Amino acid sequence: MKIILGPTSKELGEKIAELLNTETVTVAFKKFPDGESYIRLEGRIQDEEATIVQTTCPPQDTAIIQLMLIADAAKRNGAKKVTAVVPYLAYSRQDKAFLQGEPISIETIARALKVAGIDNLITVNVHQENVLAKFPFPAKNLSAIPLLAEYFKQKGFTKSFALAPDKGAIHIAEEARKFLGGEYGYLEKQRDRYTGQVSVEKKTFDIKGKRVIIFDDIISTGGTIVAAAKIVKELGVEKVYVACVHPLLVGDAEKRILESGVKEIVGTDSIPSHVSKVTLAPLIRNELTDAKF
Ligand code: R5P
Repeated sequence: MKIILGPTSKELGEKIAELLNTETVTVAFKKFPDGESYIRLEGRIQDEEATIVQTTCPPQDTAIIQLMLIADAAKRNGAKKVTAVVPYLAYSRQDKAFLQGEPISIETIARALKVAGIDNLITVNVHQENVLAKFPFPAKNLSAIPLLAEYFKQKGFTKSFALAPDKGAIHIAEEARKFLGGEYGYLEKQRDRYTGQVSVEKKTFDIKGKRVIIFDDIISTGGTIVAAAKIVKELGVEKVYVACVHPLLVGDAEKRILESGVKEIVGTDSIPSHVSKVTLAPLIRNELTDAKF
C-alpha cells in the first residue's frame, strides 16, 4: 500500500504512513489564475493499493475536486485499488431534502467520487452514519470519541458529565460517558432552516458543581455550543469544556465560544487547526491494518 498525501491532510497522512511504515506519494497542487484546481502525483503508484488521505475542510469544494483529481490520477497511473480516507466528509449534513427543491448533496458527492475512481471510503464521525449505506462503494465510519475522551481522562477529568448539545449527538455523549465513567444527557435544539439561527431549550440536569464536557461532531459557526454553554452556566456549572471531532470554527466561532465561558475547545486533526490536539492517526492506522473492503 502507498499513502497519497492529499493537500488538506498532509500532516495526518504522514503520521498514518509512519505508523504503518508505508511509503508515501506527495501531491503537487496549485490553482490556475482562473480558479481551477491542478494536481500531480509525485511518485509511482503502478500496481499499488493507493490510500488517499484528504479531508474536505474549507474551502470544501476545492478539497473535493482535488480528491477526485487525485483518485483519477491514481487510477490512470495504474493503482489497483483506491481507498479514500476523508476524516471530515463535507456536505454530509445535507443528507435529505429538508425543504422542497433541495438536493441530497452527500449522495451527489458520493456518486461523483465513484466516477472519479474511488473504490472505498473511510470517514470519521460522519453526521448521520446511515447515509453511508447509500454510497455506491463500501464506506466505513470510525469514531474519534474514545480518543477525545482519553484526552480529558489524561487531564484527570474522569466522571465528568458528557453533554450532547442536541438529540442527534446523544450517541456521541453516550459513547464518551463509557470512557469517562460519569453521566450523560442531551439538550433539545432547533435550527431555523432559512436563517440557520439556533435555539436550545433549557432542561434541568443535576450538574451543579460538576465538570461538564459538551461533545459534538462538528463546530461550524459555534452557535450550537454557545447556546448549550449558556444553559449549562445557568444551571450552575463553573467548568465547561468542549470536545468536537471536526473543528471547522468558521469566522469568530472560537472567540464566541470562549467568551461564552468555555474553558477549552478540543478538536481532532480531521480539520487542521490550533485546537486539533487529538490526532486521528492511530484510529485510521488500525482501520487500514484491518480493512477488509
Ligand atoms: C448539527 O446537528 C451538528 O451536529 C452540529 O451541532 C452543528 O453542525 C454545529 O453547527 P454550528 O457550530 O454552526 O452551530
